[in-house]
Amino acid sequence: MDTLNTESVRRYYDFWGKRYDLFSFYEAKAKERALELLDLKPGHKVLNVGLGTGKDQLQILDQVASGGIAFGVDVSLNMLRTALKRTGPTLVEADGRSLPFSNGSFDRLYSAYTLDLIPSTDLLDMLTGFRRVLKPDGQMVLLSLTEGVSFASRAFVSVWKTAYSVSPITCGGCRPLVLTELVRKAGFTILSREVVVQFAVPSEICVAGY
Ligand SMILES: C[S@@+](CC[C@H](N)C(=O)[O-])C[C@H]1O[C@@H](n2cnc3c(N)ncnc32)[C@H](O)[C@@H]1O
Repeated sequence: MDTLNTESVRRYYDFWGKRYDLFSFYEAKAKERALELLDLKPGHKVLNVGLGTGKDQLQILDQVASGGIAFGVDVSLNMLRTALKRTGPTLVEADGRSLPFSNGSFDRLYSAYTLDLIPSTDLLDMLTGFRRVLKPDGQMVLLSLTEGVSFASRAFVSVWKTAYSVSPITCGGCRPLVLTELVRKAGFTILSREVVVQFAVPSEICVAGY
């Protein structure tokens, strides 16, 4: 399946901006679980890649408060503007494939529904970059649309893939991924993998250590 190029992705998310939160009804359960698995502690330094409107970032900031800091990167200026109103200024316009941070900068890396927009040919390099910016005792939690695990979620994914093959933009550029093998190839140790289904939409939560 062909993915959208970065310019189309940027335009799409610039268009949606704050209204992207309307989609959160099918992501809420998976996000709640992913943020729990992120296991944040006060003082942690966190990076959120493709932070979108900043809703998750608010929770992250709250949990690392008193000494911690959370940075967010996104390619969409409108998303960054929306997030800025919620989260404050630790935001960077950058591509997750070339993160402008030094090696070993973060205790935690979080990325929700962003890798599923990235061309397959770039995924391994992107994940290797994620590992580069994590501290050696750091941990990463990734969330993405994935393959179905039940009758309803398999049916949903089948319809989704058909729509995506006709027009990726109708699916917001997201296609289902199974991340664990790639994450392992990028040098991480997989700590857990879960699939959470809400309204028949299956989301993979992959937790990995350095
Ligand atoms: C599906 S939205 C998810 C937003 C947010 N993480 C959430 O779960 O609500 C994907 C976000 O990733 C951003 N994005 C897409 N490609 C990116 C890239 N290569 N680097 C950084 N951000 C990217 C988009 O602009 C958009 O804000």
